[in-house]
Amino acid sequence: MTAVVLYCRPGFEKECGAEIQEKASWNEVYGYLELTKNQGVVYFHLNNPEEGEVLMQRIPLKRLIFTRQWFVTLTEKIALPDFNRVEAIVESMGNDWQYADLRMETADTNEGKALSKFCRKLAVPLRQALRKEKILTEKHDNEGAILHALFFSGSEMILGFSLGSNTSAHVMGIPRLKFPNQAPSRSTLKLDEAFLYFIPKNEWETRLTSGLNAVDLGAAPGGWTYQLVRRGMMVTSVDNGPMAESLMDTGQVKHRMMDGFKYIPQKQNVYWLVCDMIEKPERVAKLMAQWLLQGYCKEAIFNLKLPMKGRYAEVVKDLQLLKDAFSEHSVKYDLYAKHLYYDREEVTVHARLLSPVPTF
Ligand SMILES: C[S@@+](CC[C@H](N)C(=O)[O-])C[C@H]1O[C@@H](n2cnc3c(N)ncnc32)[C@H](O)[C@@H]1O
Repeated sequence: MTAVVLYCRPGFEKECGAEIQEKASWNEVYGYLELTKNQGVVYFHLNNPEEGEVLMQRIPLKRLIFTRQWFVTLTEKIALPDFNRVEAIVESMGNDWQYADLRMETADTNEGKALSKFCRKLAVPLRQALRKEKILTEKHDNEGAILHALFFSGSEMILGFSLGSNTSAHVMGIPRLKFPNQAPSRSTLKLDEAFLYFIPKNEWETRLTSGLNAVDLGAAPGGWTYQLVRRGMMVTSVDNGPMAESLMDTGQVKHRMMDGFKYIPQKQNVYWLVCDMIEKPERVAKLMAQWLLQGYCKEAIFNLKLPMKGRYAEVVKDLQLLKDAFSEHSVKYDLYAKHLYYDREEVTVHARLLSPVPTF
């Protein structure tokens, strides 16, 4: 039976499953879910096997909030022998497709991590064999399909494919970022990942460049401010808590000790608004809509903290609130949300208006 396999943060299988089932049904694709708690892997078994590729073509991965990466199965689970594993894998490839890349993957769990050494070792002869059979071309354009090999153990795995134009650039959808020693908090990696994920690299020169003004709401001790400062921006950091001395010493940071919900910029020259306040997500969403629609900033990246229960429903509701606010003002907009790798009990949202707010 063909399934779409989706990777998410362990513990978020229910949200990941609910989302794919809902978005598949909008595309008249139906199936049932199979998930194991805390494994970070979700199966959406399709009633019609041909619809796997249809789903991959119709739903942009960027639109799936809780899915890091996905593929459509090519095989059932394969039992691997103790010897000649490569041969067994190559023989189970049912079609004569060619693939631009091979991804060796495991679940994002402790067991999965323990398996990754085994995967790295097997990758070398497997790549060689797939190249020899002309299954792996390694032509890295966006068009080619990607071959996924998901290992459950040293003796069990499954093969699948994703489309190069609609897949994550990272193995298992996980970017490995280095924690910068000078940053005052681990949270810094969240904004670093958000910039990488939401803003195309070829636009960094205009959208993430030095000289831009930024506001950071809920900034202390300054992990997010650090990401703005290191890109040469001038930052107003709003928080009653203390900011790291090292950031204040740069001369690029103004610290305003006040409530982030009350702060209003004096001049309309703020490009970025970033917000990591621990607050009710609905309240944050309303504030973000207000900043964008009033023209206080051009782009916003913010976190929506997730409740203990009804996490998917809460995110959908908050995003709808933003969409409704933008539509009421007849503006075009970009709005994307993702449960990023460095996020925990929150999702990160990027919003910007693509047309000015009409003045009547
Ligand atoms: C998760 S921490 C922010 C961490 C920060 N982004 C970093 O990278 O270092 C949340 C911060 O939001 C601040 N906060 C919560 N509610 C706030 C409010 N209404 N106004 C301003 N700051 C607020 C807290 O004081 C706290 O420092």
